[in-house]
Amino acid sequence: MSTKKGRVFSGARPTGRQHLGNYLGAIKNYVALQDEYDCVYCVVDLHALTTVEDTEDLRQNTYEMALDFLAAGIRPEESIVFVQSHVPQVTELHTILSMVTPLGKLTDLPTFKEKVRMHPHNINYGLVGYPVLMAADITLYKASVVPVGVDQASHLEFTRETVRSFNYRFKTNVLIEPEMKVTEVPKVIGIDGQQKMSKSLDNHIEIAATPEETTKRVMMMVTDPQRQRRSDPGNPDVCNVFSFHKIFSSAEEVEMVNVECRRAGIGCVDCKKLLAKNLNAHLAPFRARRAELDQKPDDVWNVLEDGARRAREIAEQTMREVRAAVGLP
Ligand code: TRP
Repeated sequence: MSTKKGRVFSGARPTGRQHLGNYLGAIKNYVALQDEYDCVYCVVDLHALTTVEDTEDLRQNTYEMALDFLAAGIRPEESIVFVQSHVPQVTELHTILSMVTPLGKLTDLPTFKEKVRMHPHNINYGLVGYPVLMAADITLYKASVVPVGVDQASHLEFTRETVRSFNYRFKTNVLIEPEMKVTEVPKVIGIDGQQKMSKSLDNHIEIAATPEETTKRVMMMVTDPQRQRRSDPGNPDVCNVFSFHKIFSSAEEVEMVNVECRRAGIGCVDCKKLLAKNLNAHLAPFRARRAELDQKPDDVWNVLEDGARRAREIAEQTMREVRAAVGLP
């Protein structure tokens, strides 16, 4: 019997190699939560199908993401790490939950409207049901806590309402209303210095990149636009390079950059070189571990298989209770 505080569930789309935004925003938090909770982490490949047109890369993207998770410190002996489609019970629960979901509620969600705007030629039925599938993910494992970014708040609220509707309609308490645990995330801006770091904008830095690639990307970073020449004083408060120094450099170095940039004592090139050096040093142990895991891809797939087997046990137990509550013969 576990002595931990409860069960955490979180899902992440298989986006392949992870970048610094994913690392600082989600992965670090996933790793830390393992100390206090029983954690279930899922690569949501079915959710990805709602918007992915080209499914060819799904397998490789799943593998690369799992490697990043494991190398970053997710411990598969303790936590359950698995692929959503390996536990078919989730689609059954999705169907049952869809019966207590008013259609208008789904089409009113801001996240749905945003997806319609982004993919006007692929507004499929699955996309409408995206939050229902997410509610099925969470409730299938009876998770009490769901760590997500604020962008998922409406989906979490939807899940909570769905649990209440289901339990009320079928006079039961088999499903559990999860708490949302908003991840306090530094908003990670991409190397363009403008937008949130993201793979699709190609403004990202992969955590698994080589030191050379990393340095190259850091050297491309946009700095304080007011600072045109080496002799101009800069403003670290508006410089994205400085934001990263605050995360990856020592207190003395941060202070040095803060002072020297303002009086043009240090140029952007040297400032970036220092950041690249510290970032590479920070990521070195992760990269070594990742390279080691990557030597044996079968072992990584076995970890995911084992996770799925443990996940299916919990899932099937929940489904027995759900089917009984609904009255399915
Ligand atoms: N919708 C989430 C996202 O796009 C991914 C997700 C799917 C999820 N199922 C989940 C997150 C369950 C938390 C819990 O980021």
